Amino acid sequence: MSPVPPVKIRLCQVEKVFISARSEEQQALAPVDLEIAAGSFVCLVGPSGCGKTTLLNLLAGFDRPTGGAVEIDGRPVAGSDRNHIMIFQDYGLYPWKSVLGNVLFGLRARGISADQARERALATLDMVGLRAAADKHPHELSGGMKQRVAIARALAVEPDILFMDEPFAALDAFTRIHLQDELLRIWQERRPTVVFVTHDLDEAITLGQRVVLMAPKPGRIQRVLDIPLPYPRERTREDFAGYRRELFQEFHLVHQEAADSVEYSI
Ligand SMILES: Nc1ncnc2c1ncn2[C@@H]1O[C@H](COP(=O)(O)OP(=O)(O)OP(=O)(O)O)[C@@H](O)[C@H]1O
Ligand SMILES: [Mg+2]
Repeated sequence: MSPVPPVKIRLCQVEKVFISARSEEQQALAPVDLEIAAGSFVCLVGPSGCGKTTLLNLLAGFDRPTGGAVEIDGRPVAGSDRNHIMIFQDYGLYPWKSVLGNVLFGLRARGISADQARERALATLDMVGLRAAADKHPHELSGGMKQRVAIARALAVEPDILFMDEPFAALDAFTRIHLQDELLRIWQERRPTVVFVTHDLDEAITLGQRVVLMAPKPGRIQRVLDIPLPYPRERTREDFAGYRRELFQEFHLVHQEAADSVEYSI
């Protein structure tokens, strides 16, 4: 039997209350408990406004909880960490730098020598199939290519955690499926811990070893579903469809509850 991996991220009664300009309190996250194992792939899924980005920002140290504790590697998260990288929906590339320049940037900022950085950047671009585009600039690339540059830039620095906030949401279905497969291949090779936010239940089941379904008002965890299917997952198989049914049923419950709340709007 393989050993149980250690806990990488632990949330204990984590709460986030925002105060509006009119001094009204908005509870974006009700107390949340969650443990994420080192090297695992976890998807956070749920309707708009249920606190997915809020939760990810707390994990990445971009924001502080108003209650409870977030720990990574057994230590409280006190701010951002260079080994924990966020990938956003809008790519976040430097438009004035070439593809290679974008990937090199993080490496050089870590004091890696020019030659070594170049070698590592090109190898990472190879991994995402973009070596031939190394000298292009972001405006010359499709959305899928830009997101691959963002992934290469993140992976080049060999992070131990990747936070991804709806990274494929703006892409067409074909590109999205292709990038899902590519991300899984790279994750299996490198095994960083991945926390991946998506709106898309199929995407969550394709990617996650564990899917955390969240519900809004206040943001909270509705259900945690383990998906012990092997990778790569066959989206057309009956066992995939079984998890899909289960998650959709649960999602409809969340949605119905949300629709019953007068404040909720899509
Ligand atoms: N900086 C902020 N100030 C005040 N309220 C905020 C702030 N950030 C988020 N919120 C509120 O917290 C709730 C959760 O927002 P969050 O962005 O985490 O949702 P989400 O699940 O990521 O939604 P989406 O799927 O649309 O990205 C929302 O009601 C939102 O209005
Ligand atoms: Mg969000």
